[in-house]
Amino acid sequence: MLGGKDNFAVDRDVVIQMIKAVPDVLQGPRTIRAGLKRAVRYMATEAGIDQFIDLGSGLPTQENVHQVTQRYRPGARVVYVDNDPVVVVHGRALLATDESTAVVTADFRDVEGVLHHPDVRRLIDFNRPVGLIMCSVLHYVPDKEHPMELVAAYSEALSPGSHLFITHVCLTGHPGSAKMEEIFRENFEGQLRTRQQVQEFFTGWELIEPGVLPIVLWRPDGAAPYDLADVPLSQHGLIGGLGRK
Ligand SMILES: C[S@@+](CC[C@H](N)C(=O)[O-])C[C@H]1O[C@@H](n2cnc3c(N)ncnc32)[C@H](O)[C@@H]1O
Repeated sequence: MLGGKDNFAVDRDVVIQMIKAVPDVLQGPRTIRAGLKRAVRYMATEAGIDQFIDLGSGLPTQENVHQVTQRYRPGARVVYVDNDPVVVVHGRALLATDESTAVVTADFRDVEGVLHHPDVRRLIDFNRPVGLIMCSVLHYVPDKEHPMELVAAYSEALSPGSHLFITHVCLTGHPGSAKMEEIFRENFEGQLRTRQQVQEFFTGWELIEPGVLPIVLWRPDGAAPYDLADVPLSQHGLIGGLGRK
């Protein structure tokens, strides 16, 4: 969806289904990556965070978390976690020469396994604030797998001053939204949620302004829209927010 050649027929099949549901869906990943970049910049600069865990980091693209954060905080540490072996191979190739960054193969639903992984312990000091990133991953965890408890378990391991960034595909009144939900359920056993449900993941966290809303409106740079009325309908369902512990 971001372009490039690192994809397979099975990926392309799902994307074709998505385009049929929401014709300008290909804007989505770019919007989310841009929001992630702004959130990482905020964490690295305004919140002073220099260590990050990116759960479900995905195939490396341009401007990955370590590249953004190291621009503001040289030597910042980043651990990427993904359970897709192809993602991990590409990630390791990208990071072969970077000792402040690691790519860990793990299922992020195994909280203890992630938190006690040797590379996580080597790079992350849990006595200091951490930036925890769950960018477009919680919609792969259906309610029956207790995603609220999952987020709470990570939260418990983090010290005060830590930040949590979440983006999530949401149910909206957009005509393609119900179809999108069906695609997530059938292909990923995942589930879309409402904005209110996503906000509940931040229970116990102080939400940074402007809260949980379409990510395109989250602290936009430059000429981005300032009002929901200016946001294309297809992007109303891409929401996110940042919390501080
Ligand atoms: C939609 S991509 C998001 C990538 C990136 N976070 C972003 O927002 O651009 C979702 C990623 O989560 C990974 N993922 C899904 N479920 C996972 C799990 N249970 N444990 C670890 N990674 C998972 C997938 O392999 C994929 O790389």
